[in-house]
Amino acid sequence: MDKPKVVLGVSGGIAAYKACELLRRFTESGHDVRVVPTASALHFVGAATWSALSGNPVATEVWDDVHEVPHVRIGQHADLVVVAPATADMLAKAAHGLADDLLTNTLLTARCPVVFAPAMHTEMWEHPATQENVATLRRRGAVVIEPAVGRLTGVDTGKGRLPDPAEIFEVCRRVLARGVTEPDLRGRHVVVSAGGTREPLDPVRFLGNRSSGKQGYALARTAAARGARVTLVSANAGLPDPAGVDVVRVGTAVQLREAVLKAAADADAVVMAAAVADFRPAAYAAGKIKKKDGQDPDPIVLVRNPDILAEISADRARPGQVVVGFAAETDDVLANGRAKLARKGCDLLVVNEVGERKTFGSEENEAVVLGADGSETPVPHGPKEALADTVWDLVVRRLD
Ligand SMILES: Cc1cc2nc3c(=O)[nH]c(=O)nc-3n(C[C@H](O)[C@H](O)[C@H](O)COP(=O)(O)O)c2cc1C
Repeated sequence: MDKPKVVLGVSGGIAAYKACELLRRFTESGHDVRVVPTASALHFVGAATWSALSGNPVATEVWDDVHEVPHVRIGQHADLVVVAPATADMLAKAAHGLADDLLTNTLLTARCPVVFAPAMHTEMWEHPATQENVATLRRRGAVVIEPAVGRLTGVDTGKGRLPDPAEIFEVCRRVLARGVTEPDLRGRHVVVSAGGTREPLDPVRFLGNRSSGKQGYALARTAAARGARVTLVSANAGLPDPAGVDVVRVGTAVQLREAVLKAAADADAVVMAAAVADFRPAAYAAGKIKKKDGQDPDPIVLVRNPDILAEISADRARPGQVVVGFAAETDDVLANGRAKLARKGCDLLVVNEVGERKTFGSEENEAVVLGADGSETPVPHGPKEALADTVWDLVVRRLD
């Protein structure tokens, strides 16, 4: 099989050096990468680095190797074009269809999916000109990854940082795997909860569960790759932030409820993948609970936590909002799933079997997605991203 052909456009931002790691990830996972840096990008990282790491020639201008008509051929033959970092200047040129160097020509001739990973100072990112350019590019079908918040060039911090190259790579991998040029969740806001809540007993102990957060993170990552604005409410997951996703960190079920309700106010879909504790300790000891010689420990008294899935299903923040729940079951998986779907009132319920070595912490999952309309979609054993994409397919069908 031919290797997938990726064009890595690099424009002139300080984060250009991070594109070397992105390039490495592509080449090491069997992609044929043609790097097209702008003239400004070459001030940051030289052509020799791009050429040596990609194993392909590197050109910036349309005037090199004219007999091969590279200004047309490179874009025409690509399976994916990713521009990382994308400068404010590059976003403006792409939005307006300028074609004054090899990268901008390539963007006009590409008929494959295009991903932009912008990086710039917060002021440049927030400027209405940049925001309008981003909106134009998204409207036309490009995936524009939201920049991360963090340290910028110099001493500044704020929004505008290039997301982790490993996470940009994940977005590209998902976009390539789907191979469609229309991101079907663009313009949508989706909320995903992930991880497992921890209910504190004292300052050092908690009641928790085995959820790793990987399924929820896969849902967030795949939604971003399909063009959605994503809020990920993450409970104790300890995983790297997916590129372009707004991550809200919480600890307990009560905090998770608050964060989900806030984010859901303008959401098109809410997917509750987090494992939320049904109960929490009735009392919290301000100091560490000590063992007392010769005495049995006090029993732990539990009280009920709010049922967030039932609450958001019954009281939709906006008409047509799609609500998806997860049921982790150990016995009678489908029968329990069906009963839970009816009880909770959500639109879809992803039912999977869990156990000590099943699902929790694993990279794979296997499930059946039950619909309130009586539908049943089995998802065979496979990567958590595959299950995530099936969930989004079913959500998109309901949103449309
Ligand atoms: C040190 C330095 C760092 C820069 N970093 C950025 C950046 O992170 N993002 C950005 O949009 N522009 C940045 N610029 C400005 C761009 O290099 C400038 O707009 C240039 O014209 C972009 O050209 P290009 O889009 O063709 O690569 C930086 C400039 C300098 C000198």
